Amino acid sequence: MKIGIIGSGAMGSGIAQVAAQSGNDVVLCDTRTEALDKSKAGLSQTLIKLVEKGKLTQEAATQLDNRIQYSIDLKEMAGCDLIIEAIVENLEVKKTLFANLEAIVSEQCILASNTSSLSITAIASSCQKPERVLGIHFFNPAPLMPLVEIIPALQTSIELPEKIKVLLESWNKVPVMAKDTPGFIVNRVARPFYGEALRIFEEGIADIATIDAAMKDLGFKMGPFELMDLIGNDVNYAVTESVFSAMYFDQRYRPSITQKRMTEAGWLGRKSGRGYYGYNNQTAPPQPQDNPQLRAAISNRILTMLINEAYDALYLGIASAEDLDTAMTKGVNYPKGLIEWGKEIGLENCRNSMAELYSFYQEDRYRCSVGLRG
Ligand code: NAI
Repeated sequence: MKIGIIGSGAMGSGIAQVAAQSGNDVVLCDTRTEALDKSKAGLSQTLIKLVEKGKLTQEAATQLDNRIQYSIDLKEMAGCDLIIEAIVENLEVKKTLFANLEAIVSEQCILASNTSSLSITAIASSCQKPERVLGIHFFNPAPLMPLVEIIPALQTSIELPEKIKVLLESWNKVPVMAKDTPGFIVNRVARPFYGEALRIFEEGIADIATIDAAMKDLGFKMGPFELMDLIGNDVNYAVTESVFSAMYFDQRYRPSITQKRMTEAGWLGRKSGRGYYGYNNQTAPPQPQDNPQLRAAISNRILTMLINEAYDALYLGIASAEDLDTAMTKGVNYPKGLIEWGKEIGLENCRNSMAELYSFYQEDRYRCSVGLRG
């Protein structure tokens, strides 16, 4: 197949590598020559490392490299069978691009967006043939993260999502189906991991190191504050704000002022050398409190909110139970799927924990989902 990728930033470059690795010819397009040069140089470095580690032969690396063509001319997309767009996260810019693309590509060409937060239905509406448009949402870094969310728009033809699922499986990815709703699966269900941790911190219940340690006690590889520092506080805040407004200001998704201030200060996390933690080795990292009771209370509260969110998504038909669990384990490395975890803890216990939170706070944020009530 010939695959077109538009936008040669972090995501587009990674997706191009994935497609080429599976034997496809790839055209990678960007409006900026510097971005294409950077992408090409980045791939060369990656390939050298893969060959050094023995994960790829020199011959395979050379073939992979040769399969990717770089271009600033959108017309090069003409012969593609599938195009995946990974440009700036802006609805109007994406709509213009999709409308322009249709004038270049064949009738059969499938058009996909890698958007994290925009409506696939709105993007599809810019096309003459919206039935060929869908969301194919990779996770960062695309070559390493197995999960891909497939999101049909309202207008997408019935058979297209299944066809893309088979294709992505042949690329060694783990695809799940998600309804076209804000945050799809992962960016919706994961919100309490950050939001509830921030709330606990703001209430002064514990410091960041203790909250992180509490979640690691449960088997999470990173705590919420460590993960926000890795993702970037600006990026994480923008996703939260976008989900919050797209959900008509449902209090469960309310962004945190703490995170807003961190972003305003430029304390973005690892990439800026300072976030919740310091990354210039000048100060010793803060130590978590060795208080098992406190840590259990924190982890139980965050996990309960996550399970409530997952059961709400299940109730609202955002995805199947199986896909919800696959998404969280393969997209963000959760130690267990939340639907399964809820069953293990017992739904009645989860309901009781939600009821306790609600009775204490009397806030809509802590309402128990109908999905959890069974
Ligand atoms: P990026 O900023 O690294 O790259 C975007 C690239 O698109 C830039 O090189 C830019 O020059 C190019 N571009 C902008 N407008 C263009 C146009 N009209 N035509 C052609 N090229 C254009 O962005 P990143 O992080 O790769 O994100 C791209 C998309 O993927 C966004 O929609 C984002 O929401 C989504 N996404 C991002 C993830 C992440 O963790 N960074 C994860 C999953 C999805």
